[in-house]
Amino acid sequence: MASPRIWLAWRVGVFLAALAPLLFWSWVVANNAAGPEPGRYLLLNIGIGALWMLLLTLSLTPLTKLTRWKGFALIRRQLGLWTLAYATLHMLSYALFILGLNWALLGSEIIKRPYIIVGMIALVGLAVLGATSNKWSMKRLGKRWKSLHKFSYAILGLVLLHFFWIVRADMQEWAMYAAIAALIMATRLPPVARTLPKLRYRFSR
Ligand code: HEM
Repeated sequence: MASPRIWLAWRVGVFLAALAPLLFWSWVVANNAAGPEPGRYLLLNIGIGALWMLLLTLSLTPLTKLTRWKGFALIRRQLGLWTLAYATLHMLSYALFILGLNWALLGSEIIKRPYIIVGMIALVGLAVLGATSNKWSMKRLGKRWKSLHKFSYAILGLVLLHFFWIVRADMQEWAMYAAIAALIMATRLPPVARTLPKLRYRFSR
């Protein structure tokens, strides 16, 4: 069994790995290497980063079932909070670099780009899950906590819709994320979820 120190190192390693893309993109912008629209560069990259964080977070439960490795479960809350952090930074990049903090523009922007509403609903959902991802909320909500956190599946659907609405020509990138999401969701179907621990048993023999 791994010692508490190794688990701490694992969590710190995951923290640094999740922070690294943000530092890299900031470094690119600071070095004027982000192209003619650095604000848009940050907005789009952080948006994709948020989607990756959400997909990684949702893959941890099936991975735990498949491998029984405690390390995956140990970083679930952290990655969930990273998803929220990335999504918040993505929204802030939009407010700062696209709206220029001119909130009067928001109404006409929403009419022009309705996918923004979908992104906003997804962000509010992530904020609710983030705010209730502590032990106190788990205890207070009891069985309802699990049901509430199942909304993360709906949030994934909303994020894919948000992204789908934006893509006009090249559907390939979107289709790749949709396929990964479908695979992760398929592991939640009761017959598949029941098979995962059996697969582990078969592989370990
Ligand atoms: C208040 C909430 C949000 C706002 C205002 C917002 C706004 C935007 C905007 C303006 C774009 C760029 C569209 C373009 O290419 O013209 C975008 C793209 C994107 N957003 Fe959001 N978004 C929000 C929430 C989210 C959330 C919660 C996620 C994921 C967890 C997300 C993921 C993405 C992705 C993956 C893209 C596509 C990036 C690309 O084309 O490379 N967004 N969003």
